[in-house]
Amino acid sequence: MKLRDSLKGIIPEEKLSYVPSSYEIIGSRQKAVAIIEIPEELTEFKQAVANALMNLHKNVKSVLVKKSERKGELRLREFEVFGDKNTEVLHKEHGYLVKIDPTKAYFSPREATERQRIASQVRPGETVMVMFSGVAPYAIAIAKKQPKVKKVICIELNEHAHKYAVENVRINKLEDKIILINGDVREESKRFFGMCDRVVMPLPKGAYKFLDEAFSCIKEKGGVIHFYHWAPEEDLFSEAIDLLKSKAKEYSRKIKVLDKRKVLPYAPRVWKVCIDCKVE
Ligand SMILES: C[S@@+](CC[C@H](N)C(=O)[O-])C[C@H]1O[C@@H](n2cnc3c(N)ncnc32)[C@H](O)[C@@H]1O
Repeated sequence: MKLRDSLKGIIPEEKLSYVPSSYEIIGSRQKAVAIIEIPEELTEFKQAVANALMNLHKNVKSVLVKKSERKGELRLREFEVFGDKNTEVLHKEHGYLVKIDPTKAYFSPREATERQRIASQVRPGETVMVMFSGVAPYAIAIAKKQPKVKKVICIELNEHAHKYAVENVRINKLEDKIILINGDVREESKRFFGMCDRVVMPLPKGAYKFLDEAFSCIKEKGGVIHFYHWAPEEDLFSEAIDLLKSKAKEYSRKIKVLDKRKVLPYAPRVWKVCIDCKVE
């Protein structure tokens, strides 16, 4: 049954069209949270919408109603919580587990396919740097898909995200493959300069400010950078490619675009994009 249909007779008929048709569910069959944006027109019916969601999906124990956009360096939102105030859940994707409290750290299940796309490019013996690593889903996806990876190094600023990353690496039994660092990429990447075959940069709003660190981490013999950026629909890739080209020039390196992709919609006519770029 659709959320809208389940609210018939509970909220006024003329308000039903405002009930969102999409929402996100994170968690397991035992316990999950739903994340939803409720329009102004339904402000007085938030509790009713939350109850309907919990009735519709018996595993949903908490409903997180968005109160803000993602903000600041940590890319967190504010939520109004309905139902269970303990919003920590265990989410499964592509054969690995992610423990997460979405009120404390960034995590998007919608990016699971993108994580697999990156993980499937990693070759045996590689050293991979994941900047802005959050609760470590990229690193875990990589280490699971390519068990012969040498090391995956993660750097994350948010201490809550870092704590979940430590737990996630432990529950997926990947302690020997993944190095987790709680700190700023600007500082912490320095000790890996010249040591990486691949750098993943999943911070679309601002990854370009860390291209110095990315180019510096890549080995002298070359490597690959996965660069994320926001872009308007009418010109998806030019800005991102220009940023990469001009940084490559500064470092006297040649680059070759291996792939360019729309990853997910961010706002109307704005996309999260990824450029896979070989550094020679
Ligand atoms: C868009 S989230 C992506 C998280 C994770 N890679 C994922 O896909 O779930 C970006 C992350 O970058 C972290 N971050 C932002 N600026 C940072 C910096 N200067 N150094 C390290 N981490 C940073 C934020 O705390 C946030 O967790």
